[in-house]
Amino acid sequence: MGRTNRMQLEADKVASVREHLTFMFQYFRNPKEVGSLVPSGPVASNLMTQEIEPGHAPVLELGPGTGAFTRAILARGVAPGDLTLVETNSEFCTRLQREFPGVHVHCMNAADLVKRDLFGGKKVGAVVSGVPFLLLKPDEAMAILSAVFEVMAPKAALYQVTYGFTTPFPRDVMRELDLTATRIASTFRNAPPAAVYKLVRRTTGKRH
Ligand SMILES: C[S@@+](CC[C@H](N)C(=O)[O-])C[C@H]1O[C@@H](n2cnc3c(N)ncnc32)[C@H](O)[C@@H]1O
Repeated sequence: MGRTNRMQLEADKVASVREHLTFMFQYFRNPKEVGSLVPSGPVASNLMTQEIEPGHAPVLELGPGTGAFTRAILARGVAPGDLTLVETNSEFCTRLQREFPGVHVHCMNAADLVKRDLFGGKKVGAVVSGVPFLLLKPDEAMAILSAVFEVMAPKAALYQVTYGFTTPFPRDVMRELDLTATRIASTFRNAPPAAVYKLVRRTTGKRH
């Protein structure tokens, strides 16, 4: 291995350690909001974004943290200008703005999505979410999901990572919003083991 490659490898390791330390620090400051001690790994990030393609633009990511899924979405060919990140934690927001030039970063609660026009009147083609729904109360989950599905195109899907054995969305909320969730992937090669759920509107379209 050449000297330049070795130096790049070392730089990547240092960046990864820094990312993990930032994440852990923010977790201890606010465990309920951050929801996990470490960021998602490359296997989970790959599974979370497996169906994302440039044609889904504009793409929305909720709760990007330090950007594990952001990197994977961009690697799928989505242009930085077609990707919008919505994150509540201001430390993460500052870091995301620095690490992902050209990507739109909004430091706000996903439940407030309908209060602002972030997409210039366009409907979102796909949503990738790391928001810890398992830790939310039903009314908090309701506020986020109703706002997000309001800005999504009718056939668009929301991809959600979770660390539990079943869907992280409260059943009453799914029923009320007429949504259906399917587990599309899972992996033990992540700490903690992760699953991916795909959430869409039911085809009967009761409310939409
Ligand atoms: C489990 S971390 C996931 C981070 C990243 N997606 C990953 O997998 O490494 C959850 C993230 O969601 C953010 N978050 C929690 N509630 C939120 C909300 N209501 N709106 C936007 N972001 C939120 C947290 O600040 C945190 O960055």
